[in-house]
Amino acid sequence: MKKEVISHIESVAISALCATYGTPCFVYSKAAILERWYAYKQAFDTQKHLIAYSVKANSNLSILNFLAQLGAGFDIVSIGELERVLIAGGKPDTIVFSGVGKQAHEITRALEVGIHCFNVESTSELEMIQACAQALNMIAPISLRVNPNIDANTHPYISTGLHENKFGVPIDEAMDFYQLAAQLSHIEIRGIDCHIGSQITEITPFEDAANAIKKLLTECQAQGFPIQHVDLGGGLGVGYKENSQAIETNTLIQAFCKIIDDNDLEIIIEPGRSMIASAGMLLTQVVHLKKTPHKHFAIVDAAMNDFIRPALYQGWHHIAQSTQHENTPKCTYQIVGPICESADFLGHDRTLALKPQDKLVICDAGAYGASMASNYNTRLKPAE
Ligand code: LLP
Repeated sequence: MKKEVISHIESVAISALCATYGTPCFVYSKAAILERWYAYKQAFDTQKHLIAYSVKANSNLSILNFLAQLGAGFDIVSIGELERVLIAGGKPDTIVFSGVGKQAHEITRALEVGIHCFNVESTSELEMIQACAQALNMIAPISLRVNPNIDANTHPYISTGLHENKFGVPIDEAMDFYQLAAQLSHIEIRGIDCHIGSQITEITPFEDAANAIKKLLTECQAQGFPIQHVDLGGGLGVGYKENSQAIETNTLIQAFCKIIDDNDLEIIIEPGRSMIASAGMLLTQVVHLKKTPHKHFAIVDAAMNDFIRPALYQGWHHIAQSTQHENTPKCTYQIVGPICESADFLGHDRTLALKPQDKLVICDAGAYGASMASNYNTRLKPAE
């Protein structure tokens, strides 16, 4: 049940946070992160595994440091994310490097620090990794990201496992790829990887992907390719809406373990959103209430540059108020920011009882919030 009024995060008053740090600002609950971490950790039970938190969801150094202390690995997509993980105390040998556009300088740095493996997405990339490793006289550990052509049934912008998407190597070309990799002098085959999308709310696409990976694993083993891990990516959705049903973490991980069916083969996962979304709130203040003959607008001091999910993916986030008023009537508001675009909204048609200067809480904003913020309109980025 989403609360109408949220006055505290853990034991800290929202009013005190706003007074100290100003608005807009992101706040995160350590207890909530811990709860999510253990949901994953316990689900794996005796299965050999690596939980590689997907840094793009939220690359805040304190969060990375907290996860590193818990024993997390990291899924990165750029040299910037690599450096952040290292600064935050993440261990290089727990890092997997994803992404379709890795550049030579990024590959070189990742080799120098000794990452767990590269999730390779094309033969062009494989050749680049071979060249970088040769120049350093090192062996590069690689995993192949396959594209299994599975519909994750999510927003098209965050669906990545279909043939028309730029991601991965078509799964039916995987054996050719492994043959090629096996012939390269500075490449070591380590694994199989896939990631079919984000905010996935049904178990079937995950199961279909895991079954496809299992089939490929069996073929690789028959051919003698030394597969040490399978990486099943991230993508577990969260329940942003009141009645939306997210898959239980335990259900997903147990399904993976059952399909892969090998306790000693390392299963890697790359959760981002499901680790951090519910731990974060965006706090904002009502600047003006504006009534037109058609709509009531609550103009707040957070905007699409601070939190782009509603504008970019029609993302729906629960919006609570931090205080309740006795004698203020409720009204249906458009919660909008100050930017000159009609895409600049945080929520449409929200029934709230508002006064200017009220503080609002945008919920489940921990993932793809601060990490996607920009300086558009020469606005400062919010404090975290
Ligand atoms: N692994 C890879 C290779 C990925 O591309 C992603 C996310 C993840 C793991 C983590 O997926 P997650 O567990 O967070 O679903 N900005 C969008 C989401 C983009 C997801 C991109 N890839 C949003 O706000 O909905």
